[in-house]
Amino acid sequence: MKNPKVDTLFNPLQVGEIQIENRIIMSSLTRMRCDKETKSPNDLVAQFYSQRASAGLIMTESTFISERSQSWPGCPGIMDQTQVEGWKKVIQAVHNKKGKIALQIWHSGRATHSLLQQGLQPWGPSQIGIKGPNQILNIPHEIPHEMNLDDIQLVKNQFRNGAQLAKEAGFDAIELHGANGYLIDQFLKSNSNQRQDEYGGTIQGRCKFCLEIIDELISIFGKGRVGIKVSPIGRFNDMYDEDPIKLYTYLFQELDKRQIAFIELMNDKDEENAYNHGLPSSQSQTNNLFEKLRNSFKGIIIGNVGLTGEIAAQLIQTGLIDAASFGMPYISNPDLVERIRYNFPLTEANPDTFFEGEHIGYIDYLPFQQ
Ligand SMILES: Cc1cc2nc3c(=O)[nH]c(=O)nc-3n(C[C@H](O)[C@H](O)[C@H](O)COP(=O)(O)O)c2cc1C
Repeated sequence: MKNPKVDTLFNPLQVGEIQIENRIIMSSLTRMRCDKETKSPNDLVAQFYSQRASAGLIMTESTFISERSQSWPGCPGIMDQTQVEGWKKVIQAVHNKKGKIALQIWHSGRATHSLLQQGLQPWGPSQIGIKGPNQILNIPHEIPHEMNLDDIQLVKNQFRNGAQLAKEAGFDAIELHGANGYLIDQFLKSNSNQRQDEYGGTIQGRCKFCLEIIDELISIFGKGRVGIKVSPIGRFNDMYDEDPIKLYTYLFQELDKRQIAFIELMNDKDEENAYNHGLPSSQSQTNNLFEKLRNSFKGIIIGNVGLTGEIAAQLIQTGLIDAASFGMPYISNPDLVERIRYNFPLTEANPDTFFEGEHIGYIDYLPFQQ
């Protein structure tokens, strides 16, 4: 029997130029199972996404745009024709099941290490390294090279090139990874961006890089197929902003002027406060993020972090969000849409198989059997 409390999730939604059949979005999940040599998605990856095609929209795992922008082995790129061909297989597999799929385009900035990118020093907005060890190597993070104006132009060109290839591959949309302490987020936030030039200082300055890249993506995909993921109060990768509501109110208003299709808005995660280093907790900065930012953007807001079907439906009914994205639940519930609709129990994911490996813990989670 259908769960009447989640009916709202099954009202179709116009997201920019894309019509989605339900409001359950699969959020981006790095699984490090792409081909390590070519850095392209393989048949296994295509199968993973195709199993999850009943989501209203799938966001791919973070996908890098240059050698310097990667940080996890086994992640895919969008830099060359081999990768385009790999992505075409994924897109075809999802489209065959009438699903929709957006590429999440990404630059890791300072959140990587020269040992993970062929000896290249990480880049960032300022010479401020992440406190704490690199997650993959378990050694201290390096101090990034502070990007000069030529570096900024180069990275903008690389985003544009990546978007062009993503378009060629046939993605329905593109999502800029502006969350979780990667390069775009590093430019936005006050603790990682202490530049004195036009790309820092004021809130307008800190948002400039992000907005210029959004403009590049719009120039390739059109405004109705561009979105961004943000984490205003997230602490992952040692992030902190002194006034996140003021910063993101400005950013949302600027994104609204550009009429992009969607913003995927991450709420906080309690456990991330482990990265606080004595700073105020994310909860103390705001406990009602969706309410504070809703009115600054008229397009689609996709709520994220720790949601269930019923909570998501309530948030949509009260108008705080328009759709909801799910990360962890999608690892082990390929049929999450059906499980939410019929109130079937969810399968727990095994964290040991989140990253790397092959099919185990990846494509062997099956749809619910009654
Ligand atoms: C294994 C794993 C990999 C993830 N990879 C990415 C990623 O590549 N890009 C991204 O934006 N978020 C990534 N996330 C975060 C999720 O997309 C999502 O924002 C987060 O898990 C919160 O949603 P949830 O509470 O529904 O899990 C990842 C999360 C997990 C658990």
